[in-house]
Amino acid sequence: MVYFLSSYSLLSTSTLGLTASYFSSFSFPSNSKIRCMDAGGLDSDGREFNTAEDMWREQAGDPSKKTQWYRDGVSYWEGVKANMDGVLGGFANVNEPDISCSEDFLNILLSERFPPAADARRQPLVALDCGSGIGRVTKNLLIRYFNEVDLLEPVSHFLETARETLASGCQTNSDMHKAVNFYCVPLQDFTPDTARYDVIWIQWCIGHLTDEDFVSFFKSAKVGLKAGGFFVLKENIARSGFVLDNEDRSVTRSDLYFKELFSRCGLHVYKSKPFEIFNMVSYFPMTRRIRT
Ligand SMILES: C[S@@+](CC[C@H](N)C(=O)[O-])C[C@H]1O[C@@H](n2cnc3c(N)ncnc32)[C@H](O)[C@@H]1O
Repeated sequence: MVYFLSSYSLLSTSTLGLTASYFSSFSFPSNSKIRCMDAGGLDSDGREFNTAEDMWREQAGDPSKKTQWYRDGVSYWEGVKANMDGVLGGFANVNEPDISCSEDFLNILLSERFPPAADARRQPLVALDCGSGIGRVTKNLLIRYFNEVDLLEPVSHFLETARETLASGCQTNSDMHKAVNFYCVPLQDFTPDTARYDVIWIQWCIGHLTDEDFVSFFKSAKVGLKAGGFFVLKENIARSGFVLDNEDRSVTRSDLYFKELFSRCGLHVYKSKPFEIFNMVSYFPMTRRIRT
């Protein structure tokens, strides 16, 4: 069975978040259509869209627009310094509470999904860190829990920094716990090796994918999970509909919007947990200029 686990952060002045895990299949009966994609949204300049479909048609509705969408997203990050402040939108101090919250959640999931007796049989534990940036999540969390971690990141100077940090400065990087593969590839172009991963961790990068590529990514990434493996998705969520960031070319989706996409992927929430942190509105890149 495939599990899907997700953590969200709400786009609100009161700084809410949600972490969730998802089972594959059947949580959304085919006759219960969620209409969230009919909901309107905004862009970061306050322009309104009637539906997500309208927004996607305008932004990535033909092959050349779609190519430009992804090119602009990567270009944005290519102009950002390869350090904690860079990948955290100027708020390096978010790192610690973020990791601590993720660690609590991961511990619960590992103990439920891989109880100690079964755990011994699962060795080595392997994770994939998607949109890994400079390897912040791998270095501070994943490498302590997994014997092998692969990193996937389309921006080469981020990935090089991750490689250097994990090779030298990471005390937990040993023969038993190491970063193995560094893939300089965007999510939409990645197909994992079959049944390599116990956990596929996707944090603060899925907003760069169009709906179509979101669904294809999860469908093909499922093949990369071992039996009993699961996804972790930690992401901002919009209060309703969606918010398009014109600068970094990403979309912040609502909880309902995510759930509709999950159903299309054949996944559903297994567990969720709020992620509360100080003012998220000013922190996340995709919410930089939004006032709610
Ligand atoms: C806000 S940073 C988060 C980095 C890392 N996940 C973390 O939490 O520290 C967003 C990351 O998404 C990456 N990204 C942008 N477009 C992407 C895509 N199409 N596929 C995968 N990652 C992408 C960026 O290069 C950047 O490293």
